[in-house]
Amino acid sequence: SKLKLWGGRFTGATDPLMNLYNASLPYDKKMYEADLEGTRVYTAALRKLDILNDHELSEIHRGLEEIKKEWAAGTFKEEEGDEDIHTANERRLGEIIGRDISGKVHTGRSRNDQVATDMRLYVRKELGEIRNLLADFIKVLINRGKTEMDVLMPGYTHLQRAQPIRWAHWLSSYATYFTSDLQRLDQLIERVNMSPLGCGALAGHPFGIDREYIATELGFGGIIGNSLVGVGDRDFVTETLFWGSLLMNHISRFAEDLIIYSTAEFGFIQLADAYSTGSSLMPQKKNPDSLELLRGKSGRAFGQLAGFMMSVKSTPSTYNKDLQEDKEPLFDNLTTVSHSIQIATGVMSTLSINKEKMEGALTMDMLATDLADYLVRKGVPFRETHHISGEAVRTAEELKVSGIDKLTLEQYKKIDERFEEDVAKVFDFEQSVERRTAIGGTAKSAILQQFDALEKAL
Ligand code: ARG
Repeated sequence: SKLKLWGGRFTGATDPLMNLYNASLPYDKKMYEADLEGTRVYTAALRKLDILNDHELSEIHRGLEEIKKEWAAGTFKEEEGDEDIHTANERRLGEIIGRDISGKVHTGRSRNDQVATDMRLYVRKELGEIRNLLADFIKVLINRGKTEMDVLMPGYTHLQRAQPIRWAHWLSSYATYFTSDLQRLDQLIERVNMSPLGCGALAGHPFGIDREYIATELGFGGIIGNSLVGVGDRDFVTETLFWGSLLMNHISRFAEDLIIYSTAEFGFIQLADAYSTGSSLMPQKKNPDSLELLRGKSGRAFGQLAGFMMSVKSTPSTYNKDLQEDKEPLFDNLTTVSHSIQIATGVMSTLSINKEKMEGALTMDMLATDLADYLVRKGVPFRETHHISGEAVRTAEELKVSGIDKLTLEQYKKIDERFEEDVAKVFDFEQSVERRTAIGGTAKSAILQQFDALEKAL
């Protein structure tokens, strides 16, 4: 137990499986840079208190630089007693600059405020990268929408053909969801970006360390104002997991739409080979595995959120080792989210659409609402016109004509006197979408307006 930083009061050895069970180094070493950076700034703050002199501080900073190089080059040697990234780095620092100096680094600091700091720095960086990926994805959706503005397709409710929409409107719908995710992310990053360093183990700092200095140097936007919270709070992890889960929910619905659109029965889109796989048995198959994985992984993301909330819910105040369980779900979640956005972007930039199939799926009954609206424009109350239009649909069915556009004016007049010659103009899909010019609608002008608003939010 001499190997352990906290070994002083212990005489017996730790059970070997307990060592494994307790160790977080295998997965928290990816925070090595954040850990070293936190220590760099923390020791600079100790210098201001004269706990370190200039020589000691520069030795410490030299040692930290060297350790950083070792991690980056893959030459850092992990040792038996290294429990986590914090103990590993401190142990190595002692080897490089001598324990007389390295032994002062942890003055007033605890791994409790240290790990919370590392995590926040690490998450902040990862979320920053994810933000860029997400913005790129949104741009792809918008650009595709602008290029393919003239393509119409059925809009669905209950997965039943409902009303004609533009393909660009569908693209804009997901760009809208993902832009909300982006805005939510910006707010989340602000809450992640708060400094717990200087809270000590739980009660605060006994040497009056300058927490504002530390926060500013580490690029934090603020300071956590209660030390019990500083060490015990993992809401930033929970929120990140929730954010990832919600984003993955949107990605999953996006993927599900595309899976449906890629079936032979729909044939609206075809995935690029780069994002499809074949069957080991059926030579003709081209499967949308990329999309299925996007859909499937959303379950994994939510599981991580639910699991972590269960881990935290009954922990007493401040730090408890349960909190170490934040790392694996969080790190995996961030990887899943980052990869998923990139795959979704790849899928969306390479798939091809089949305009004929999309527009071929439009049927005249999808204009029944427009027929009702035609009479509304002539002053008939909508509840009445809804009924009249329904009658037209039924009549077309009874007469076995192919659609409501095939009824003659005489037949229309029999249904309702107020139908006139110009009823023929209703039966045009393009006209139907172009009527929907109010904000949020599927008319070209409304879609472009929405693209504009989304682009401003990026
Ligand atoms: N590896 C720990 C974690 O990830 C670091 C904090 C340990 N603190 C302690 N007092 N045991 O949460």
